[in-house]
Amino acid sequence: MTQQLNLFDNIDETDNTLQPAGNEREQILSLRRELAEQNYKYYVLSAPTMSDQEFDQKMHLLEQLEQKHPELFDPASPTQRVGSDLQKKSGFQQMEHRHPMLSLANTYSEQDISQWYNRVAKELRQAGVEQAPEVVCEIKYDGLSISLWYENGVLQHALTRGDGTRGDDVIDNIRTIKSIPWQVDYHRNPALSNFEIRGEVLLPWQSFERLNKEREEQEEPLFANPRNAASGTLKLLDPKVVAQRGLEAYLYYFITDTAVADTHYDSLLLARDLGFNISPAMRVCHSINEIMEFISYWDTERRTLPVATDGIVLKVNNLQQQQLLGYTAKTPRWAIAYKFQAERQQTRLTHISYQVGRTGIITPVANLEPVQLSGTIVKRATLHNEDFVRQLGIQDGDIVWVEKGGEIIPKITGKVNEHSSEQSLPYKFITTCPECGTPLVRDPEQAAWRCPNEDQCPPQQKGKIQHFVERKAMNIDGLGDETIDLFFSRHLITNIADIYDLRADDILALEGFQQRSAQIIIDGIEQSKQVPWSRVLFALGIRYVGETTAKKLAKQFPSIDSLASADEEQLRAVDDVGGQIALSIMRYFANPANKTIIERLKAAGVQLKADDDIQPVSDKLRGKNIVISGTFALHSRDEYKQMIEQNGGHNASSVSKNTSFILAGDNMGPQKLEKARQLGIEIIDEQQFLQLIS
Ligand code: IVH
Repeated sequence: MTQQLNLFDNIDETDNTLQPAGNEREQILSLRRELAEQNYKYYVLSAPTMSDQEFDQKMHLLEQLEQKHPELFDPASPTQRVGSDLQKKSGFQQMEHRHPMLSLANTYSEQDISQWYNRVAKELRQAGVEQAPEVVCEIKYDGLSISLWYENGVLQHALTRGDGTRGDDVIDNIRTIKSIPWQVDYHRNPALSNFEIRGEVLLPWQSFERLNKEREEQEEPLFANPRNAASGTLKLLDPKVVAQRGLEAYLYYFITDTAVADTHYDSLLLARDLGFNISPAMRVCHSINEIMEFISYWDTERRTLPVATDGIVLKVNNLQQQQLLGYTAKTPRWAIAYKFQAERQQTRLTHISYQVGRTGIITPVANLEPVQLSGTIVKRATLHNEDFVRQLGIQDGDIVWVEKGGEIIPKITGKVNEHSSEQSLPYKFITTCPECGTPLVRDPEQAAWRCPNEDQCPPQQKGKIQHFVERKAMNIDGLGDETIDLFFSRHLITNIADIYDLRADDILALEGFQQRSAQIIIDGIEQSKQVPWSRVLFALGIRYVGETTAKKLAKQFPSIDSLASADEEQLRAVDDVGGQIALSIMRYFANPANKTIIERLKAAGVQLKADDDIQPVSDKLRGKNIVISGTFALHSRDEYKQMIEQNGGHNASSVSKNTSFILAGDNMGPQKLEKARQLGIEIIDEQQFLQLIS
């Protein structure tokens, strides 16, 4: 956000087409800037830093000033735009590209690069250019292309490539990318008031991994790579969710209405001055040698970059020369992409086996004849799910390609002998669990098959124990996977409650354990009784209840008993808890086996209720989602928040259909008021509230 703030400070305040109107003009511009920023924080980030009241006052002042100065009318002013329409969209508006969005010709060898460079030099010579052409080398970012349109310095549209001539306007989502300015300061160069800038939207590795981890916890299908994840994210209709994912953008092509630079390189420097994120990895090269140096440097160094890359882009630097060279139907002649070789090898798929995960998901695994790849020996690769195997069209005995791309885990990317598929039989997924024989089920909306026998299927039983002792859950030292395997096979632990019945003597009776190692386990178990309720809830391993959801649930339901007795509506009142999670929680507590386990955990002294500093006073507000708005006379906002929690209620930040009531002081925020009216939500004042909890 800091970057965004700086950029807002850059809004043009000296537009020379307008008559200066003294102080009031400045006031208008600064209010517009401030309110636009607040709108963004409110609607997109859900993290306003201004009270609704202050927002409203400033908006009102701006309206008055604008009425007084019609000559300063601006359709982009916050008075002219309803911030809330960000989310009401049902789809995206399609728009024609001003210039077709072309792709690049790909090459894979030094030879191809030389050929391209020599051809370019030759064509330019024929056109009278004697000097060897300059070529800018850039990183080829592996995301999806975006075209941003700025009018009078304001971001107006953000089009995806679409079909090259028409794209989707995904501007609300693009606005969540902090490094893309909403508005630029062009006053030093008015030729920069209207322009188009193109670049790549990416999901950095770190965010990609975090997202997939969350999806795994929620049992949602994983994204295969950051590009797919970025593309899926950009197509989401709720910019709030997009904002949480943390997209990034690198810009690489600046198209102004009037010429502003002689070279591509200089044009990017200008774009950088305007506040755009231009990759620092750019070099003007004067020979094939220099180009090859750049390529070989980044071929290894790219692994240190925070985002996915798949090659190098070469562009003729001089813009006039670019024009001379022109375009083919699909690609510019003045640019070319060199694609990095993914490391890949051929090997035989000996057989497909099936793994049963902690939650019963069945994953097909390719067992391979061992092969050397990027310095490691690869013997196995995940095949993800049934659909993935079908798409590859592979089966036992096929020769396949194994690749190690940006992702660390090797993957099978195809079959070497394309023809053999015609003779082979269609792929059939197994129908019963390879571990317990139970018939598998497949949720219609998911690609995964599951074994439903969660209480008796051994890997699921073990998986629940492994998850329970994990660092982020109960953090029980000494109980590693191998130890759990051993204890499980000796029937010492078959479920999580058994852990608390373990005695040092039981452990010492097993081979390989000494007094010390047994004591570490016993101490770890003892310490786990201090783990707070929210983490215990996560540790239980209820389907779809990941770490974050567990925290939110534990806040709303201060004990396992209150959670176990909650109905669907009460569960869904918790942030992020939808129907699927609510049903899963209810199903968990309806299972008699789980009830027994919980009783045993309770008896062992595991924290199954909150032990906060805030001691509950009553549960008069149990299950209530309350929004506070405005200023109060009798207590501070924070005091009211605390009272809500002490009485079992939940503080919600925004008004939704799940809001139970609004506690309103003076000058309640206009947006909240409007929303409350629309949804028919009750509004109560301080006195009524105090009465309610007295
Ligand atoms: S220039 C007319 N520069 O690669 C030239 N493209 O395979 C427009 N890409 O569609 C493209 N990094 O989405 C250019 N530094 C870079 C790039 C880049 C990634 C993408 C872009 C393009 C695709 C072509």
